[in-house]
Formats: sequence, structure tokens, C-alpha cells
Amino acid sequence: MSGYSVIVKKINLAVMEDKELAEHIKSEAEQYIPFDINDVYLDYQDLKTNTENSEFTDIMLVAAKKDVINAYLEMLTSIGLQAVVVDVDAFALENSFEDQINSGQNFILIDIGASKISINIIAHGASILARDVVMGSRQITEQIKEKLNIEAEEAENLKIGGQKTGEEEKKAIEEIMVNNCSQWILEIKKAIDFYASNYPEDKISRIILSGGGSKIKGLDKFLNNELNMETEIFNPFAKAEVSAKIDRDYLAHIAPEMAIAAGLALRPVIL
Ligand SMILES: Nc1ncnc2c1ncn2[C@@H]1O[C@H](COP(=O)(O)OP(=O)(O)OP(=O)(O)O)[C@@H](O)[C@H]1O
Ligand SMILES: [Mg+2]
Repeated sequence: MSGYSVIVKKINLAVMEDKELAEHIKSEAEQYIPFDINDVYLDYQDLKTNTENSEFTDIMLVAAKKDVINAYLEMLTSIGLQAVVVDVDAFALENSFEDQINSGQNFILIDIGASKISINIIAHGASILARDVVMGSRQITEQIKEKLNIEAEEAENLKIGGQKTGEEEKKAIEEIMVNNCSQWILEIKKAIDFYASNYPEDKISRIILSGGGSKIKGLDKFLNNELNMETEIFNPFAKAEVSAKIDRDYLAHIAPEMAIAAGLALRPVIL
């Protein structure tokens, strides 16, 4: 599921019975959600962070606008498909990292799509901060189109590595790329700073990139230099058995864009 508003908050609640908790969350949630509570689907998960010394537990609260979700569901129904699970991009992606999460590693998942960047900081065995930023690779295409006064298709082709006609064109595209990537990095920095101010003693040192935007040449090195964190591009098929019918080069090429779909596919569904 992509492209809808998601708000994720952690709220502390004393441990309660499940039914009591559900009712309490609905009334508590209102203060955290900048929309009418009746316009959003709400879900939550008890992260069970209560200890022997504290009866408080953290709750992960997720809200998504009903009209956005319903539009996706209607689209699926209209082509004869029934959705059995709706998930948040960042959490679907997380499914591919269960081993690392359970072993207590700290890292940050960054999925750069066409119109949004999902940032998910994982530490202490759970998602600490998940945030969508309304920026993405489509903006680059739009800016190239405007700057060079060309069709969108041609701009997209130039963005993904198509042959540039001259030095001036090359320079203009490079400038647009650097500007956008710099803005993305600023947003990523904000999330990391937020984490660091809450957990100063427990640093994150690894970034895992996915999404079509992560294929921008040199972006991983740029992030590595700017944030001083080991940066890698995720391949969701690294451990998958691949049928001989599937072209390996094609699979490697689309792997970053497939990260969320692959994560969602890992999620068990109880019908
Ligand atoms: N080599 C590349 N360099 C830059 N951008 C690229 C490259 N290859 C693909 N993209 C861009 O990646 C985007 C598609 O990526 P992805 O499939 O992850 O997005 P999406 O999931 O459709 O969008 P969103 O997550 O924002 O809803 C497109 O904007 C495409 O132009
Ligand atoms: Mg996406």
C-alpha cells in the first residue's frame, strides 16, 4: 500500500485487558491524529514493553485516511480481487528484516518512491519512528521536464540514465539531482536527530535503502558521506530461490522497487 497518510505514534498506557485497551486507545488516539477520528481507519499493536518494574507499555498506533484506503480497495474490487491485508509501507518492508530486528540491531530503512519517502528507524527490537515524507523521484522528472522544456517521458529517460545530448543538459540534470537528494538527506537527518535526542546513548550506524529512487547513481555514497553511516541498497531477492524462467538481470534491476511488495508477501495472512 503506498501513497496514503500514515501517522505512527507511541503512547504509554498502563497494561489493561485487551477489550479495555481497545476502547481506551480510541479515545486517546484523537489527540494524536490531525484528522477527524471518523475519517481514519485506526489500528494498533501493543509492543509489550512493560517490565517487572513498570506496568506501562508502548503502543504503536497507526491511522490511515479512509477515503484513500477505500479508493485502493474499490480499485481492487473492480478488477475482481479482494484485499486480505492492508499494511503500511514501512512495516511491510520491515518484515524482510525480522532476524536483524530480533537480534537487537539498530538501523534505518529508507524507501524512496515516486512521490514519498518512507523512513523507519528500527532500534531495540522495534520500530522507533516511522514517517512518510512527501518527496520523491517523480519531482526530479518534473523538474527536468520544466528546465529542459521536454516531454515527461524524455525527462524520465534522462533521469534514469539515458544519453545526455550535451554538457549543458548534463549539468542541468546533475544540479536537479543534487538539489533533490540534498533535500531528501535533510529530511532523513531530521528523523535521525529526533531519534538521537531520545536515545543519545544508542547510535544507529547503518542505512538500508530501497525504492526506485535509491537507484540514483551515487546516492548511497552521498548518504554515506553526509550521514557518516554505512549505506547499502537492499536486495529483497538475495536469499530467494529464483525460477530459471525469470531473467536474473531484470530481477536485479527491479529489486529495489520490489522491496515493499516482497516484504508484504512475507506476511502471513489468517483468513
Ligand atoms: N535509476 C533511477 N534513478 C532515479 N529514479 C529512478 C530510477 N529508476 C526508477 N526510478 C524512479 O523510482 C520511482 C518508482 O519507484 P517505486 O516503485 O519505489 O515507487 P512507488 O512505490 O511507485 O511510489 P511511492 O512509494 O511514492 O508511492 C519512479 O519515480 C522512477 O522514476
Ligand atoms: Mg513505494
